[in-house]
Amino acid sequence: MSYCAIILAAGKGHRYSKTIPKQYTVFDNELIINYSIKILSEINSIKKIILVINKPQFIKFKDQVYKNKKVKIIQGGKERKDSVFLALSKLKRTNCNKVLIHDAARPFLKKKLVNKIIKLSKKNEAVIPYITNTDTIVFKDKILDRKKVFSIQTPQCFSFKKIFSLHKEYKGKKFTDESSLFFYKNLTVKKILGDINNVKITLKNDLNNNKKNSYGIGYDIHKLEKNYKLYLGGIHIPNSMGTVGHSDGDPVIHALVDSLLGSKKLGDIGTFFPNNKKFKNKRSTFFLKKIINLLETKNIKINNIDINIIAQQPNLKKYKKIISNNLAKICNISEKQISVKGKTTDRLGNIGKNKAIACEVITSVSNN
Ligand code: CTP
Ligand code: MG
Repeated sequence: MSYCAIILAAGKGHRYSKTIPKQYTVFDNELIINYSIKILSEINSIKKIILVINKPQFIKFKDQVYKNKKVKIIQGGKERKDSVFLALSKLKRTNCNKVLIHDAARPFLKKKLVNKIIKLSKKNEAVIPYITNTDTIVFKDKILDRKKVFSIQTPQCFSFKKIFSLHKEYKGKKFTDESSLFFYKNLTVKKILGDINNVKITLKNDLNNNKKNSYGIGYDIHKLEKNYKLYLGGIHIPNSMGTVGHSDGDPVIHALVDSLLGSKKLGDIGTFFPNNKKFKNKRSTFFLKKIINLLETKNIKINNIDINIIAQQPNLKKYKKIISNNLAKICNISEKQISVKGKTTDRLGNIGKNKAIACEVITSVSNN
């Protein structure tokens, strides 16, 4: 049995966005189109892949599209079915007898589902993944039995000859996937339970609902001495002692910057602001603003920030809100997304003896 695959990525994605085609949107640092190319090219039994694109869109993203020697790129057609037909025609002269047809708009495909489909395709002319519905389904004001209504996903696997001939036979008919052709003709279809996460990105929310969170941790401690100023979270706090540091020694912002960087494996504060002349006596708010800019250019969104400031003195009660408001403003998030907690060490250790102030921060981020 010889397998090939078709990845459909020639659509305009109009329902998703009028500006950037959904298949070239970045999700979790990767183009949507790349997820399908990677998954399918890593399946050993698939020997050839036709990637169907629309040239004017593709050209802008060409360099970012995943390369693999199995993949051949062709220009698509007006409708999805035209794109499939062009790909099937391209495969006509290869010796593949089974073809998997997949929408690039389904980036959350897992190998497990592909392998299950391939396995069952050995004994079936058409293997199609479906998922069940949980909503009440109404057709022409009549309630349908939702247990009998399915949503069909891709990839779908067919005997090459059969699907090619059905495409020719139904050339004039409108259809949204290949399983439809089998259903029109009442042909046998092997339906298997698909994957609820294998959603087709159609509307903006489809990606938002799949956002992956990642987390970063940060810690910092600074010595307290007389004749130094005390900055916590960018706020000057009147105190008999202040923190000693290369910059303004703000342990809250330093820990926060490290947690933000850590959440996406971008390094640490020293990677960006080493202890050199350039950053001597710099206000830490400057570092934070730079890192917030960096995250914004990478489309990284802060979900929430949780901060522990560990100080015996001063009592932070009246400063916690001022600090969190200030940090929320710099981070371009709402006050609801940031919490500042104060803690003493019960007079134990260096912090308890007012020799230092420490801070720990955890942040959660996701891709926009
Ligand atoms: N597709 C294609 N060629 C077309 C139309 C669609 O290859 N002429 C592909 C899309 O890129 C997508 C899949 O078929 O991966 C499913 O189509 P759909 O979800 O409708 O995507 P679009 O047509 O791009 O979106 P829209 O209908 O919102 O414009
Ligand atoms: Mg479409």
